Amino acid sequence: MCGIVGAISKNRNILPILITGLKNLEYRGYDSAGVAYLKNNKINIVKTSGKVSKLENKLNKSDESNIGIAHTRWATHGKATSVNAHPHRVNHITIVHNGIIENFKEIKEMLENNNYSFKSSTDTEVGCALLNYYYEKFKDVDKTIKAFMDKVMGSYAITMIIDSDLDNLYVLKKESPLVIGISDNTNIVASDIRAILKYTNKYYILDDFEYAKISSNEVIIKSIKGEILNKELHTLDLKDNDNSKGHYKHYMLKEIMEQKTTILKTVLPFIEEGIDSLMTLPDLTKYKEIFIVGCGTAYHAGLVAKYLFEEVTNTRCSVYLASEYRYQNNFLSKDTLTIFISQSGETADTIAALKLVKSKGYPTLGIINVENSTISYLVDTCLYTKAGSEIAVASTKAYTAQVALLSILVHSHGLRNKTISRDNTIEVIDEFKSIEKLITPLLNDKDTYLSIAKNIYKEEDIFYIGRGLDYYLSMEGALKLKEISYIHSESYAAGELKHGTISLIKKNTPVIASATNSNLNAKTISNLKEVLARGADIYLICDDNYKDDTFTIVNIPRASEFVKPILVIIPYQLIAYYTATLRGTDIDKPKNLAKSVTVE
Ligand code: M6R
Repeated sequence: MCGIVGAISKNRNILPILITGLKNLEYRGYDSAGVAYLKNNKINIVKTSGKVSKLENKLNKSDESNIGIAHTRWATHGKATSVNAHPHRVNHITIVHNGIIENFKEIKEMLENNNYSFKSSTDTEVGCALLNYYYEKFKDVDKTIKAFMDKVMGSYAITMIIDSDLDNLYVLKKESPLVIGISDNTNIVASDIRAILKYTNKYYILDDFEYAKISSNEVIIKSIKGEILNKELHTLDLKDNDNSKGHYKHYMLKEIMEQKTTILKTVLPFIEEGIDSLMTLPDLTKYKEIFIVGCGTAYHAGLVAKYLFEEVTNTRCSVYLASEYRYQNNFLSKDTLTIFISQSGETADTIAALKLVKSKGYPTLGIINVENSTISYLVDTCLYTKAGSEIAVASTKAYTAQVALLSILVHSHGLRNKTISRDNTIEVIDEFKSIEKLITPLLNDKDTYLSIAKNIYKEEDIFYIGRGLDYYLSMEGALKLKEISYIHSESYAAGELKHGTISLIKKNTPVIASATNSNLNAKTISNLKEVLARGADIYLICDDNYKDDTFTIVNIPRASEFVKPILVIIPYQLIAYYTATLRGTDIDKPKNLAKSVTVE
């Protein structure tokens, strides 16, 4: 979603830093962009709807500056116009802002009563005016920021330039990520350190209710009380952050292919030394029930874990959509562990659900991909997936890393509660160790996926079905297809079709299924025959060497319940990818979507 970059330097033109930073944040999704910088002793603001490249073209090529702030905006309050784009400026103050000021209406009214007027429909302009109001009142930055933090409800990462103090940038933070990168005579602010890795990998992380005064060679971080804080300087490991597309046309395809290594990399620390390594995972036997919370693909990974917890280790597990979880009776107790799954670690709904569980004092565990992200800090225990940077909006390698890590976690639990034997564990560990061999033929089977894609890419409705684990996997398959191809695709429990949905099946409606559970396959195949009889075209992923000339079949190797989900999902990912390529959509940055959903 929205992205922030800000820079101040003694001896460098910061405009390329701002534009490069914004370009690196583009993958997160946005619909307008803007920049503010010092030019001829005045703040010059350039904004546009649309892409960063359009913003770049609007900039005067010969301009140079040593202080500036920049932003990509994903519209929430007000349309994606250049008026609503950031930076916003009110009298002496110019800001960019990520997050949402929840009580902006009340603040706006107060400011209007104090002769402020507004050009945009954004909460950010109101926030900017509030900072200006306090600054004019107190003539002191510390008091201004404290008053702002006391007054504003909601979330913010703000970078601010004050006209009367052009040797400093100011940043303030609550519930939206913000880091301060340190370089020689140049300091750079960003909502994600990965945006500015070209310039530095050394950074401070701002926590909630902290703010900083940043000059070209000094960073002073303070608490809301105005106390100077001695914060840890972090260093990001550059080798795990390859953000290039390589020879691939799309990040999504590159990331799908990277699964050859990311799955094993994620689980290796817990299987390397066999059972001893597994036992280093948290002991879950003290909990009566496991809750799992996440959004989108992370939620789907949770469903796979539910299946494994319940069917293999006889442990109750409930999975919740984070956006729903906060507003329902959540039956928490000291006997429940809540696991939060998130690639980015910044998803607003997941963070809100996590804060709710924490506020009640119950235990939490995170399965997170991005190190040092908000969720990784908030959970009691954090296990990292090692998928590396995932740039494509459609999550692929992060999903399989989540599923792999959860599978290993469930497995260790099964060993502890004696529902899984040591022999079985050794087999599963061997499967994970040979995962590259298992998935490479699936990843390379382009002809099969492309020929399916050619059959379905002109359709507007596609049905996904399955039973048990295959139903949960079909949910992820349908999500992949709809988000990147814009084809309406839904998944259904195969047995449910007859209870309503089958009325939608007509001649040549594509129905895509997986059937990989020998106890359930016959029933799923009966359901497929029912839709076939009504004219549907059937595509079946199975591990049974099942033969049927009336279906198009994709065979996957046989594997245990723990590895099977990974094998099933690869054809689903690649069918979605090739279908979207035939429709010519913007695969890595699908319309209306953001990589990291930082508003509720
Ligand atoms: O960063 P998170 O894992 O918390 O993100 C959750 C969802 O927004 C994300 O998985 C989304 O559904 C993906 N675009 C799906 O491909």
